[in-house]
Amino acid sequence: MTKYKIAMLVGSTRTGSINQKLARAIETTAPDSLQFTPVTMEDMPWYNGDLESNRPDSVNAFTDAIRQCDAVCMVTPEYNRSIPGVLKNAIDWGSKPPAENIWKDKVIAMTGTSPGGIGTAIGQQHLRQILAIQHAIVMPGETYITFKSPDMIDDAGHVADDSVREFIAAFGERLNKLVALMASA
Ligand code: FNR
Repeated sequence: MTKYKIAMLVGSTRTGSINQKLARAIETTAPDSLQFTPVTMEDMPWYNGDLESNRPDSVNAFTDAIRQCDAVCMVTPEYNRSIPGVLKNAIDWGSKPPAENIWKDKVIAMTGTSPGGIGTAIGQQHLRQILAIQHAIVMPGETYITFKSPDMIDDAGHVADDSVREFIAAFGERLNKLVALMASA
């Protein structure tokens, strides 16, 4: 079986993050061919062009990690109808310099969860817009999840409800199909 490396980027690292729980659920329900690696974004400084001549080690570690993966899975909260600054900052670092843009032709799947009824829908639309200018290959379809109760997904990624688990598993299956398709192209 061909294995694909997937960088897992989660837009929240707070204790008890529901998006961290969703990320674990994706990992536990996805096909075995997908191998997920968590990649941290929090230790990078805010983007500043003055740092371009000597990029911080944390930035180089991040861009190297993304380059080594076949695809990226972004699981993110919606903050004020957009994405958290930590994710935007990581995208900005990765987009420069243009000739070394790590997002170009990279397969990227996105999802997210919030307690609200629209479950990150507007934040994801914003993320899709940001990734379009990067020439990323963004997975079609939309996966928004309302985190209806605190025990919907536990810290290990076990999903209480069968239909929610199947919905999350379908996201992983679509990512698997797309990354295999692009690898064969
Ligand atoms: C939020 N939250 C939120 N929720 C939402 O559905 N739409 C939104 O625009 C926002 N905006 C927002 C801004 C900021 C600064 C915070 C801290 C929170 C609520 C958010 O969905 C909720 O706090 C989630 O629990 C955050 O995800 P994690 O940290 O649990 O993964």
